[in-house]
Amino acid sequence: MRFFLDTANLADIKSRVDTGLVDGVTTNPSLIAKEGVDMKTRVLEILEIVDGPVSVEVTTEDLQEMIDQAMEYHSWHRNVYVKLPCTPTGIKALKEIKKHGVKVNMTLVFSLTQALACAKLGADFVSPFIGRLDDIGSDGVEFVGNIVEAYSIYGYETEVLAASIRSVDHVASSISVAADICTIPIKIFDKLLAHPLTTKGQAQFLADYKSSINA
Ligand code: E4P
Repeated sequence: MRFFLDTANLADIKSRVDTGLVDGVTTNPSLIAKEGVDMKTRVLEILEIVDGPVSVEVTTEDLQEMIDQAMEYHSWHRNVYVKLPCTPTGIKALKEIKKHGVKVNMTLVFSLTQALACAKLGADFVSPFIGRLDDIGSDGVEFVGNIVEAYSIYGYETEVLAASIRSVDHVASSISVAADICTIPIKIFDKLLAHPLTTKGQAQFLADYKSSINA
């Protein structure tokens, strides 16, 4: 399981890279807008500090413009993964840009038929949104597991990137259903290693050690 950070905040990314747990970054237009920065500048800054896939999303619904943006992003760096929406136009763009070796992350995936179409056309990553499915009363984790199983049965190599993560439990469940990647917001990433029994146990071990050397 690879961990990506789901943010466009440079300081947050910089300060988590030395954990050794950050394998890549996903951005989207909302995350970039939140930072109030130019998209290309920010993406290039992220690519400088993270040695792994960095997803950058197209910002148009027009097929030719999508293809042009994808080709431009692709020219920025070998680690750029172009994010395309899983719409009929996005699927057409996927088919076209894979001919040019562009790495693609298909985003906003909410059904098994969408996920299969993405894999069939050679997407590198497919991004099911767990939190947004949970929000409408579906089971986002179960959906991720269904994609993993279907890809395995049909022999597709597209990697399943669990997105829209809202809790540590979502990450743990994504591991349980064998998602390939999980993209995690900073506040959840920072909680990944916390467990009250680890904290309690370690405090007890140190206290017992101190009392043994003072005995
Ligand atoms: C990542 O690739 C997605 O854009 C992101 O996880 C969406 O998360 P949200 O549903 O919390 O906006």
